[in-house]
Amino acid sequence: MSFSPSVPGSSLTPLALLKRLENKLLINGKLVSPKSNKTFPVHNPATMEVIGQAAEAHAEDVNDAVEAARTSQKKWRHMDAAKRGHLVSQCGDLLEEYADELARLMTLETGKALRTESQVETKVFTNTFRFYGGLGLELKGETIPFSDSMLALTIREPLGVVGAIIAWNVPLLLMSLKIAPALVAGNTVVVKSAEEAPFVVLRAAEIMNTILPPGVLNVISGDGPTTGEALVRHPYVAKVTFTGSVETGKTIYKNSSEKLTPVTLELGGKSPMIVCEDVDLEKVVEGALSSMRFTRQGQSCTAASRIFVHESIFDDFLARLKEKLNALKIGDPMNLETDIGAVISPTQHEKILKYIEMGKNTQGATAHECSELPTDPKLSKGLFVQPVLFTGLSNSHQVCQEEIFGPVTALIPWKDFDDVINQANDSPYGLAATLWTNNLNRALRGVHQLEAGFVQVNQNIVVQPGLSYGGVKSSGIGKEASLEAMLEHFTHKKTIIFNME
Ligand code: NAI
Ligand code: MG
Repeated sequence: MSFSPSVPGSSLTPLALLKRLENKLLINGKLVSPKSNKTFPVHNPATMEVIGQAAEAHAEDVNDAVEAARTSQKKWRHMDAAKRGHLVSQCGDLLEEYADELARLMTLETGKALRTESQVETKVFTNTFRFYGGLGLELKGETIPFSDSMLALTIREPLGVVGAIIAWNVPLLLMSLKIAPALVAGNTVVVKSAEEAPFVVLRAAEIMNTILPPGVLNVISGDGPTTGEALVRHPYVAKVTFTGSVETGKTIYKNSSEKLTPVTLELGGKSPMIVCEDVDLEKVVEGALSSMRFTRQGQSCTAASRIFVHESIFDDFLARLKEKLNALKIGDPMNLETDIGAVISPTQHEKILKYIEMGKNTQGATAHECSELPTDPKLSKGLFVQPVLFTGLSNSHQVCQEEIFGPVTALIPWKDFDDVINQANDSPYGLAATLWTNNLNRALRGVHQLEAGFVQVNQNIVVQPGLSYGGVKSSGIGKEASLEAMLEHFTHKKTIIFNME
């Protein structure tokens, strides 16, 4: 494949590319080292080797990035909306040319399997830019019938500089869901990448910067308390959009409130999957496999981490799901035959194992450990976890109430439909839910009664450009991925009246 001549580093291997990006932030269109010159190591979770040293941005670097964004926003906001959209679409096209490179880089730093995860994510990622790129002319306001001699109307205006703080589980997808609508709406952006996965975000932004004017898209890396907080608290950050844990979401909400900065928060989940007895079992077992995101080691906020199965099909369902899981191959994420890679960090690894132990130590519970850990000595230090299906745990158990963010789900039998809906809703979270039935009455009751931002019947697709995505209860505030998300979260309405009396 021939790459665009204007993108530097195009012919490099992933590791050589990482070297170029070491100790670099992207500010005002240029890769620069942080003023402190401090770095932190980034690991390949499949081997625990250090793959590179990422730049640690401190308050003065954060300030440089915000200032660059602020300066460029003064021009960017006055560019025709359709033209801004066109540039964002062009970014999608160019990023697609680099999909393979980006997928490999992402696999290297996240441990996610290249075929089942990283390659799939890059497709949704590039499509998000194209989707929003076409929406420039949808930034419409209204006219208000006020009086014949007056014209009263609203126009949509950008908010200013957007601070986008993202997690490591789907770094490219998350950056696109924040950057694309923000830019099309006339804002400029400073992205703070996750400590565990800074390089793929930096590289994608570098590629986009060959199209966008300097300063419109800036990327900084560093930890939450130092870099993230400095961004949230910066006086010129007019909007904060975040994906990550509930705990950090609350801290960000609190810090943003001090200067009344609006926030969008995409937080965790404990998504229920309800299986009725009338379903095509084979199809639903496939659905459970993808709903639980086993190929992403369960590291998904919508993972079906509570599966309620009608008691009459429970044993059959369990047997079939185990069989399918056992057929998945855990191994080197870069190998195209691998289905399941490594989890992101020692902290997450420990957290997952702790929950598995907790479940195992519960009386009456059984941990069905599936598939096999890799035996390749090169992967001996890798953060691999066998997928676990728990039976014998009640919905009130900690394993069923808290977000594990690992390949662990509980299968819970049910008898009464109203009761299972109550159990599904008995959770602090409300991100997503799926219901599997061909009974129209149950389907309709279920979709109305389930407390979640996204409910699907007989399928579980991931975030799609065009469909609003976001939770209720502790799962967050606001929506992403849709036209409404751009209008509601990245613009404000200015009311204007012309009095020509
Ligand atoms: P986290 O929420 O602490 O980190 C996410 C991002 O927030 C990172 O970029 C981090 O640097 C930043 N951050 C942390 N503290 C901050 C602060 N005070 N101000 C501003 N930014 C801050 O998530 P972490 O520690 O990586 O994972 C912990 C748990 O969070 C996981 O076990 C999982 O349950 C949940 N999680 C949920 C995700 C989702 O998709 N909703 C994604 C990642 C984690
Ligand atoms: Mg954290």
